[in-house]
Amino acid sequence: MGKPLIAGNWKMHGTAESARKLATQLSQHRSQDAVAEMIVFPPLLHIPAVSDILATSSISIGAQNVSQYSNGAYTGEVSAEMLLDQGCKYVLVGHSERRAVFGESDQTVAEKFRAAQNAGVIPILCVGESFSQRQQDATLEVVAKQISAVIDLVGLDKVCQSVIAYEPVWAIGTGETASPEQAQEVHAAIRTQLGKAGRSTTLLYGGSVNKGNAAELFKQPDINGGLVGGASLEADEFMNIAQLVEA
Ligand code: PGA
Repeated sequence: MGKPLIAGNWKMHGTAESARKLATQLSQHRSQDAVAEMIVFPPLLHIPAVSDILATSSISIGAQNVSQYSNGAYTGEVSAEMLLDQGCKYVLVGHSERRAVFGESDQTVAEKFRAAQNAGVIPILCVGESFSQRQQDATLEVVAKQISAVIDLVGLDKVCQSVIAYEPVWAIGTGETASPEQAQEVHAAIRTQLGKAGRSTTLLYGGSVNKGNAAELFKQPDINGGLVGGASLEADEFMNIAQLVEA
């Protein structure tokens, strides 16, 4: 059984002030001995301020993106080591917005995964099918291929030491969510692909998670928590969802 985890992806929203406010609200309400680990993923520029606020809390910090390169002449990039230096324990790799809008290939995602792990930052590998791929019944194949690309580069054991988030592209930011059965089917397939070493890998579901649909999703045997976008921007809503991971 994977360790329970609740992650909030703030995407490219807010200001330094709103990030500080949200972090302060979360740190005031999150108990030190909560069972699930809570992680927030602020915009990169807001990470130092959020990191200061959360330093004495039990809430971890992650980044939304990382360079596949470790250092050097890569204008505009941020390395995994720099993220670690700013207090990031986790980083998202392969989010569907990075894949679709910024053209990140399976190979690039795998290289980012490797760069993160090499620096000691835990990658959260995001995978998921588009609406047309689901209609063509290709969901399990698409997800397996996205994961295989990383296994091919770093090996199965390293992938099992990470976190994997299944996020159907058609459910992200749309208000539409996979049914608990649809989500569980994919999570079970991922668990099977990982084999024995993946029994304790944390698998998250993401895609329009809110306090109304989270309970049923998190009850599924192979879902260990959630990666929440829109609903993580409001402290009360995110705290409510977090409680459902622990229910
Ligand atoms: P959403 O985003 O909860 O707003 O659908 C999820 C994600 O992109 O990780």
